[in-house]
Formats: sequence, structure tokens, C-alpha cells
Amino acid sequence: CSQAHSFCDAGVTGYGPESGCGASNKILIKGGTVVNAYHQQIADVYVEDGLILAVQPNIKVGDDVTVLDATGKFVMPGGIDPHTHLAMEFMGTETIDDYFSGQAAALAGGTTMHIDFVIPVNGSLPAGFEAYVEKAKSSCMDYGFHMAITKWNDDVSKDMEIMVKEKGINSFKFFMAYKGSLMINDELLLEGFKKCKSLGALAMVHAENGDAVFEGQKRMIELGITGPEGHALSRPPVLEGEATARAIRLAHFVNTPLYVVHVMSRDAMEEIARARKSGQRVIGEPVVSGLILDDSSLWDPDFISAAKFVMSPPIRESGHGKALQQALSTGVLQLVGTDHCTFNSTQKAIGVDDFRKIPNGVNGIEERMHLVWDTMVESGQISITDYVRITSTECARIFNIYPRKGAILAGSDADIIILNPSSSFEISARSHHSRSDTNVYDGRKGKGKIEVTIAGGRIVWDNGFLNVVPGSGKYIEMPPHSYLFTGIDKADENYISSLKAPVKRYKVAT
Ligand code: URP
Ligand code: ZN
Ligand code: ZN
Ligand code: ZN
Repeated sequence: CSQAHSFCDAGVTGYGPESGCGASNKILIKGGTVVNAYHQQIADVYVEDGLILAVQPNIKVGDDVTVLDATGKFVMPGGIDPHTHLAMEFMGTETIDDYFSGQAAALAGGTTMHIDFVIPVNGSLPAGFEAYVEKAKSSCMDYGFHMAITKWNDDVSKDMEIMVKEKGINSFKFFMAYKGSLMINDELLLEGFKKCKSLGALAMVHAENGDAVFEGQKRMIELGITGPEGHALSRPPVLEGEATARAIRLAHFVNTPLYVVHVMSRDAMEEIARARKSGQRVIGEPVVSGLILDDSSLWDPDFISAAKFVMSPPIRESGHGKALQQALSTGVLQLVGTDHCTFNSTQKAIGVDDFRKIPNGVNGIEERMHLVWDTMVESGQISITDYVRITSTECARIFNIYPRKGAILAGSDADIIILNPSSSFEISARSHHSRSDTNVYDGRKGKGKIEVTIAGGRIVWDNGFLNVVPGSGKYIEMPPHSYLFTGIDKADENYISSLKAPVKRYKVAT
């Protein structure tokens, strides 16, 4: 657009007033290639009051409409990040990005919705939900909630039902690691899976064997390895493979769909591949860090340069990332998240003498769309329609909000990005919009630049200018019984009728 953007500075998250092009409620995106998950065409997109009203060639409009020329560019659904942690209290501290700064960063990088994990308060789901409603009041883009289950009793079981039926939550995460804090055991996992199935809610797992990780950590400390490299050495891929296999088998036993978050290793990915090949409904989510980084930085002699890469499961040695990319391009893995969970240098320094105390997490909410484009599309590994599928549409389908989200269709929410394939991007901790003072992708350059982000029908990112309004983001309720649940009951019936008839036994006289 041709208007001046004096209300915001590049690189600085501004509280833009409702003026300039960002405030127009009517937008026409002209002449771009409109890409959806299964189709692309050259067309105009007309937006009014937060909704896409028309997608067709040569739309004519009046003077009151902001016109964006997208000739030679791709017009795509805004990214949906299925996995973030904003304002999360974790490992004795709280993530440096809250709902406002994390979402502003997301919008600057072409992501227009994210799904964050509500952590219960002392095991209480309603208390956790209320706490996150409060945290999310500063939202400048749409968001949804998953919820973690950290203990089990009748109240938790009843509250899961309330969360699904009244609060718009349709997925629950079970941590198989973080012994002593979030970790649950197999008994709880089974109870949780059964409850999820009965509600049509998706069970998610953080798959690492927490008992074995605990053992591995002791082993490293005994060996005198206290630095960030000890993090990777204490929790090798085999522990991720084991837990992934166990969760998959238990989900099969209960016959409920399963979503494996942050798949970081070939070992875990191969378990998912095997299960899917046998027909089991398992979704695998790699995250950007696992796709494109390797563990070499954990051996950096500078503590902070190494500690900023500490996350769980760990970033693996080189080779795993490439295998995950291939799995993504062949459909073994279905969508890409970030696990955005940022801590600044001071926070990472909590673990300067002991890697077990380094707050776990890396950034990615602002970088995901660019890095996936550069790594997967620019390299020729996937098509542009596939790009839309793995960054947006598949997430909307899995969490049952498609086609309101994840599509450029008449009637969908106006969450749109314009990507210029001949422009380039460069990532830097100095110019990113996260509050963190580090960035695990610092210095990376690549092809393809998201020039415009439209969220809820407003232009919020326009060629380096951010115009975001705290409180403008909406909570998106996600209904249960997504496509992953269709036919589950039929499989149950088949299972019961396949059981061998019970043996009729005669009473034995005593
Ligand atoms: O290191 C990580 N992944 N931090 C966030 C918590 C989690 O396990 O997702
Ligand atoms: Zn503008
Ligand atoms: Zn996790
Ligand atoms: Zn996470």
C-alpha cells in the first residue's frame, strides 16, 4: 500500500492507533497466486470486516477499499502454529515472551493463529484455564488452547469434560518426561486416553521416557558433565523412540487417535511411520528446530551460546533433521510447529553449573514460515500447496476449525499472508520481535519473504512495519470429534465381534 506508516517503527513492537492502512476494514488483494492446500489459481481476494468475501479474478471495488498488489506473489492462509508456550511458568521461571510479544513476533513472521498449552494450577484444570484467559487478554491475534493433564482423579476426569463441552478445548497433552513436575505414568496415560476418546478429544504426548532421562542425567553428573552438552547426552534418541512406541501402542490398545508433539529423532519418526502404515491414526509434529538445526552448538565453549539450544527432546545430531524433512515431504509427518518457549540469557544462566536447571525451550514462532519455505519449498522438497497444508491447513483440520481457518475461501476468516518468492529474509536477534536477547537461527538467510500479514481482516505487518493492537485477538473455540475420530466406533464394534466367544463353563461340584 502507498500510505505512510508513521505509527510504527521497524523492529519495534508498536501499539498502533486505529489509523493508516491497518485500520481499513475493506481490502482487495489483486493479481496474486492464491494457494490453498489442494489448489492454486491466479485470483483477487476481497476482505471485509474480518472475513474473506470473494476469491475470483478481476474483482472491482470502490475508493474506500485498500488495494494491495500481489502480482508475482503468493497469497496464502496465515500460518497456524500448533505448539507454543507463551507466558508459561516453567523450571522456576516464566517464558520471556507473553501473549503480546509472542504474537507480535508471530504476525511479523506470517503466523496468524497459534495453539498454546494451558498448564493446570496444582493439577486443577479450571484454575489453569482461568490463569491462561488472564494471560491471553493482551492478545493481538487469534489463539486456541490445548491443556496439559498432570495428575489424575475424579475431578480431573469431570473437568476434562467441562473443558471440552464448555470451554472450547479439544486436545490434552500428557508429558511422559519431566519427572517430579509434569510427568505422568502409564496408568494415568491409559485413563487419560480413555477419557479423551470418550470426549472426542485428541490425546497428545511429549514422548520421552522420563525415568530413563532421570537416570541419564545422574549418569552425566557422576561423569562430571555439567554443561549444556550433558542435556543431549542424558536423553538420547532411544528414549524418545521408546516413549513414542509406548504411547502409540497404548493409544492402539484404547483405539483412540494420537498426536505426537515435537518429533525430534529418526527413532520416534520411524515408530510413527510404522503405526501409520498399519492403519493407526497417529499424527506426527516435527518442529522447526528439529528439522533444521543439529546438536553441535551444545558443545559451544560459551555457555549462553550453547544453552540457548537446550530444549526437550533435545536437538539431535546431524542426520535426524534431514530424515524428518523427508518424512514431512512423504506425508509420514503432517504439520510443522515451533514449540516456541523462550528464555533470555539471564534465565538460561540459572543452569550455568548444572544443565538440569537450564530452562528448556527455543524460539521459532516468528521464523517458522520463512524457514519452512526456504528449507522445504526452495529446496524443491515440497510443492507450494504442500507448504500451505503443513503450515496451516492440516493444523486447522486436526483441531477442527477448518475451513474457518487454514483456507483462502469465501467465508473463511481473513488471516492471509503475501509472500514474495524473489525477495529474501535474514534472521537476527537484534531485529526480531521476540523479547528474547538470543535467537537460535541468528544470522540465517534465505529466499522468500512474507511482506504482508493480514490478521482478522487488518493489515498488521506491512513491509517491515508492525501495527498490532493488544486485545484484538480472539479466542477460537475448537469443537471435539475432528475427522480423526470418524469410524473409531466402527473399529470398536469390529474389535468386540472379533473376540472369541466366551467359553461356557460348568459349575464344578466342591
Ligand atoms: O523444551 C521444551 N520443549 N520446552 C517446552 C515444554 C515442552 O516440553 O513442550
Ligand atoms: Zn500499508
Ligand atoms: Zn513437550
Ligand atoms: Zn512444547
